[in-house]
Amino acid sequence: MKKVAGFFLFQCMTLCTLHAQNNVADSLKRDSIWRANMKAIQQESQADHKKMLELLHIDSLRPGPSGDPEAPNAANVDESKATTYTSLPDPLVLKNGEKVTDAKTWWEKRRPEIVEDFDREVYGRVPQEVPKVTWEVKSVTSEAVGDIPVVTKKLVGHVDNSAYPSINVDIDLTLTTPANVTTPVPVIVEFGFIFPPGFRMPASPPGAPKELSWQQQVLAKGYGYAILIPTSFQADNGAGLTKGIIGLVNKGQSRKPDDWGTLRAWAWGASRAIDYFETDKAVDAKRIAIEGLSRYGKAAIVAMAYEPRIAIGFIGSSGAGGAKILRRTFGEQVENLASSAEYHWFAGNFIKYAGPLTPNDLPVDAHELVALCAPRPIFISVGSPKVEGNWIDGKGLFLGGLYAGPVYKLLGKKDLGTDTMPPIETGLTDGDIAFRQHAGGHTTGPNWPTFLSFAERYWK
Ligand code: GCU
Repeated sequence: MKKVAGFFLFQCMTLCTLHAQNNVADSLKRDSIWRANMKAIQQESQADHKKMLELLHIDSLRPGPSGDPEAPNAANVDESKATTYTSLPDPLVLKNGEKVTDAKTWWEKRRPEIVEDFDREVYGRVPQEVPKVTWEVKSVTSEAVGDIPVVTKKLVGHVDNSAYPSINVDIDLTLTTPANVTTPVPVIVEFGFIFPPGFRMPASPPGAPKELSWQQQVLAKGYGYAILIPTSFQADNGAGLTKGIIGLVNKGQSRKPDDWGTLRAWAWGASRAIDYFETDKAVDAKRIAIEGLSRYGKAAIVAMAYEPRIAIGFIGSSGAGGAKILRRTFGEQVENLASSAEYHWFAGNFIKYAGPLTPNDLPVDAHELVALCAPRPIFISVGSPKVEGNWIDGKGLFLGGLYAGPVYKLLGKKDLGTDTMPPIETGLTDGDIAFRQHAGGHTTGPNWPTFLSFAERYWK
């Protein structure tokens, strides 16, 4: 598949219109409304992006490469050309040049330095005052998932908008826990995509073995799961930056260059979900894992880095802006992330690294994001380059985990255990940083069993 990730949502939407409509006229009408909406969002995002460039005094940006391997400007996928940048920061050296050799210096000096760099230059700062969220249980349903009886709660987190009533923000969350269990259970929170009305996943080919869904696998371990819908409280585009939780705090105004981007806003939502779990007797809020794929894989690792209550992370195909070393010239580049299609995930300041600065000038890189998760267990997941494509850069993700190893070791934990990237379907799961490349595409699907065995080591 060509630039699988790039067109993921677009394809879902298109598929949706193909599958869902019985009435062709209706379908065409919906399709054209959807296209018009997309166009308006794109134009508004471009205008906001331009405004940010002006704030940063940037005249032009280097364009990113294409995710289409056939394009003349295709992203590099030749490993011998991947390491053009040479300034990878050392997570265990303070800004003053001193080496960090004890946990106390990590926690008190070096970690805060790294957090400040990520805040200012990469993901943006969460405002000092973010309005309070009040959780409401909308419904409680007893049902079955596969043959497992469960209780599903539909929840809405109402954000206090009294300071700016014209923006209303609600967080959409669903919690499913096994019924007939009297003790609180661990919960795996997934950042969930929402599909348009009528969307149906393409059916499995006839005769394909029936596999348990990830939800069934989670329940079979005795855990619960929750689905948090990031776009319910912060849209996935630049046009949305003056709305949602970011826009509410800014009272409808545009962002400053170090204001939070969408990834941190999504991560903030995960923290609010955990606030709720702490009040629900069905949940053991000390055993919360986070999982996400692609842009939500980025959100998952950002959430884990900043939220100490997240005990375990399952970081799916997070690529650039996630666990992949940004200094690698392979697959998606900083220049792509800084474009008007993706800059909203980050602080405005991040755009500078696509011109005039370069990725070599970044004060931090992805291994330090992994290091912020230490000493908590983290599982880095990716698909096969043959099926998923090279845009995500599996090797770059592996290196993100590898170079975080010294911090885990300093804190008395185990690193990946090798500096050699393992073959496909060979998990490295003996340490507290785990890595596995499955044989499938742009999904965490085939890695669920390995992830759950990894989690079970901690959640016996
Ligand atoms: C695009 C984008 C990636 C992102 C992916 C997705 O491919 O370039 O950074 O991870 O979309 O979220 O599907």
